[in-house]
Amino acid sequence: MSPPAQPVSPARLLFSEEQLRRRVAALGAEITRAYAELPESLVVVGVLKGSTLFLADLLRSIRLDAEIDFIAISSYAQGPDTQSGVVRIVKDLDHDVSARDLLLVEDIVDTGLTLNYLRRTLLEREPRSLATVALLDKAARRIVPVPIEYRGFEIPDVFVVGYGLDFQGRYRNLRAIQAVSDLARLANEPRLLEPAWWRNT
Ligand code: IMP
Repeated sequence: MSPPAQPVSPARLLFSEEQLRRRVAALGAEITRAYAELPESLVVVGVLKGSTLFLADLLRSIRLDAEIDFIAISSYAQGPDTQSGVVRIVKDLDHDVSARDLLLVEDIVDTGLTLNYLRRTLLEREPRSLATVALLDKAARRIVPVPIEYRGFEIPDVFVVGYGLDFQGRYRNLRAIQAVSDLARLANEPRLLEPAWWRNT
């Protein structure tokens, strides 16, 4: 009699807490060097909600006079594979950003539609400069070419959760980033990854 089949793990560790810490610190150092000569403080713009954990760590590695602002957008089509690209602002910036230096902080760039929309919207406000830092880049999925001046990691076409990234609002507080191997199963059992949470954080 053959032994019972091992259940296939629904997720695998993609980036550990330590890998994230090192890469984010390196990005912070790179950004600090690039913006060393600013006339005014740098306006760091977080895109809610996915970028919040990354932003909190990145900001502590940026050794410059900096301010934080947030923008939140909503896309009309929901779900990982149904991006309409039609977005609207649900929370706008508090700052007047004309003639300011803006650093847009994104968790992940996938099709590029969201970043493309954000860039167009912010450029209309005539900042002195606009650059983007994205923790993850799923370059293979790009529909619209978008510049990413500072990039954490390029990743393959996998769905990821943790370190701010969610599945239906869950798993943002995982300290590591996990790649979901069976998205259909996760959709049926949204709490599926909870055991992995305790193993790999
Ligand atoms: P884009 O407009 O297709 O580039 O998608 C960007 C947004 O989609 C991100 O800011 C995330 O909110 C979401 N997203 C894309 N891929 C993933 C993923 O693998 N995990 C979690 N969210 C994702």
